[in-house]
Amino acid sequence: MKINGNTRILGVLGYPVKHTLSPPIHNFLIEKYKLNLIYLPFEVSKNNFEKFIKGISHIDNLSGFNITVPYKVDVIKHLYRISSEAVTINAVNTVKIKKNKMYGFNSDYFGFKRSIELNFPKFKFRGKRVLMLGAGGASKAVALSLLKSSIRELVILNRTYKNAVRLKSELQKGLNDPNITVFRMDFEYLKKSELLPDLIVNTTSVGLKKTDKTLIDLKYLKQRNTIIYDLIYNPSRTKFLKSASSYGLPVLNGLDMLILQALKSFSIWTGISLEEELMRSVNPLRENLKKILKSQGV
Ligand code: ATR
Repeated sequence: MKINGNTRILGVLGYPVKHTLSPPIHNFLIEKYKLNLIYLPFEVSKNNFEKFIKGISHIDNLSGFNITVPYKVDVIKHLYRISSEAVTINAVNTVKIKKNKMYGFNSDYFGFKRSIELNFPKFKFRGKRVLMLGAGGASKAVALSLLKSSIRELVILNRTYKNAVRLKSELQKGLNDPNITVFRMDFEYLKKSELLPDLIVNTTSVGLKKTDKTLIDLKYLKQRNTIIYDLIYNPSRTKFLKSASSYGLPVLNGLDMLILQALKSFSIWTGISLEEELMRSVNPLRENLKKILKSQGV
């Protein structure tokens, strides 16, 4: 990578950003396509966010940036236009700058769906029953992605019931009569439910810590082929995924979603076709990231 006066800048804006994997992903792609770009972390504390975001579009050689925790919602009011998915999810994780105007997108929406298609090519979303654990920041892109893919039913379990109710009503605004049911988190939920889900997705932060317990008992799925998906990728196998594997259930962690949302963002910034070119990068990126995570002791 050679930096010169023509180098254009990309980056990730958040607080903290010390552990983000986005710079290694995007700089890998930049090298691969021999582009005169660099991707940097922008760590901006809450006190400085407003000042920073108001000025950032005036950097003429800034092509765009990702936004991560805690600014995915706060950034919206500063944008010139945002995509329809980002409006419904009410979160932007990708900004493209054109002529000093900022355009917002949500590539998590794409990353989630594509990660399932890539890992379970036989799985068809249409008509499926999905159980989603959690109703926080990560859950909206997942829920919208599923509901827009014509699933039959989405059941949301959340520790705080009112947060699940709020999520349901937000999702209803952007969709035509979606089939969503919400319950309080219940370890024995699967024992009590008549119709078992085809896919279970953990969107909560439970599993990040070694001491975390699993949120639901998967033993009632023993006879089924339910896909168990945990958005957490660090650790690579949470207790939830370990428990699923012990029952012989198919599992997926969040690493591919991370890679695929990044590929989508990169495609938005560079115009490189996602399907033809970038998808070839998934395998080498996955191997790279596994090495990085391993070197961090995971
Ligand atoms: P965010 O900022 O993205 O909302 P969060 O506060 O960590 O992140 O919460 C994400 C999700 O994890 C929420 O659904 C949260 O449940 P609540 O709505 O009840 O807060 C869930 N969550 C976090 N810690 C949890 C725990 N110990 N047990 C069950 N759910 C938990």
